[in-house]
Amino acid sequence: MRRRFALIGSIAATLATLILFTYSNSISQQSAKKADPTLIKRGEMLVTIGGCNDCHSPKVFTQMGPLPDSSRLLSGHPSSLKLPELPVNIIGPDKWGAVTNNDLTAWYGPWGVSFAANLTPDNITGIGAWTEDSFIKAMRSGKHLGAGRAILPPMPWFNIGQLPNSDLKAIFAYLRSLKPIENEVPMPIPPTGKG
Ligand code: HEC
Repeated sequence: MRRRFALIGSIAATLATLILFTYSNSISQQSAKKADPTLIKRGEMLVTIGGCNDCHSPKVFTQMGPLPDSSRLLSGHPSSLKLPELPVNIIGPDKWGAVTNNDLTAWYGPWGVSFAANLTPDNITGIGAWTEDSFIKAMRSGKHLGAGRAILPPMPWFNIGQLPNSDLKAIFAYLRSLKPIENEVPMPIPPTGKG
C-alpha cells in the first residue's frame, strides 16, 4: 500500500514539474516576442537624449544641416559610402583631436578610424544576435560585446554605462524594436602613424 502511494506521489510530482516547465517556457517565449511598449518608449527617449543618432544614423542633408535619415535610423556607418582620403599630419597633441565624415559615422583620430556600429536588430550585421546581458556588459566595461576588444572612441560607453540596469534594458528593448537593416559596418582601421 505504502509503495503504491509513493508511486502515485512521484507520478504527481513529475506531472507538476512538467506543467510548470511548459508554463514558464510559454511565458519566456511571450516576453521574447512582445517587449513592454512603455519600456520601448523610455528606451526611445534615452536614445534621443543620449545622442545615439548623432553618430549611429546616416544623415540626410537639409538647409537646417544634417539630420538623421529616418529610413535608415541607427543602421551605422553605411557600407556603400566611400571614405574620403585620410588627411596626413593633422592629428596630434598640438594638432587636431579627430576628424569626422559628413554623416558623423566615421571618426579619424589617434586610434585610427572607427565606424559607428549598426544598432538595428539585423542578425548578421546588427545587434539581432546580441543578448541584453552582453549589451549591458559592453556599456559597462567598454569591451566589444562585454568581453572582446576595446570599444574605440568616440563611443561614449563610459557615460552610457552610468545608467541603471533598468534604463540600459529600455535602450536595448527600443533598439530591438527597430526595423532590421542589413548594413555591414567596416572593421576599424588601425592608426597609420602619419597622423
Ligand atoms: C560620438 C559618437 C557616438 C555616440 C554619441 C554614440 N556612439 Fe555608439 N559607437 C560609436 C562608434 C564610433 C562605435 C564603434 C566603436 C568601435 O568600433 O570600437 C560605436 C559602437 C557602439 C556599440 C557597439 C559596441 C560593441 O560592443 O562593439 C554599441 C552597442 C553602441 N555604440 C551603442 C550606442 C548607444 C546606445 C548610444 C547612445 C546612448 C551611442 N552608441 C552613442 C560612436 C558613438
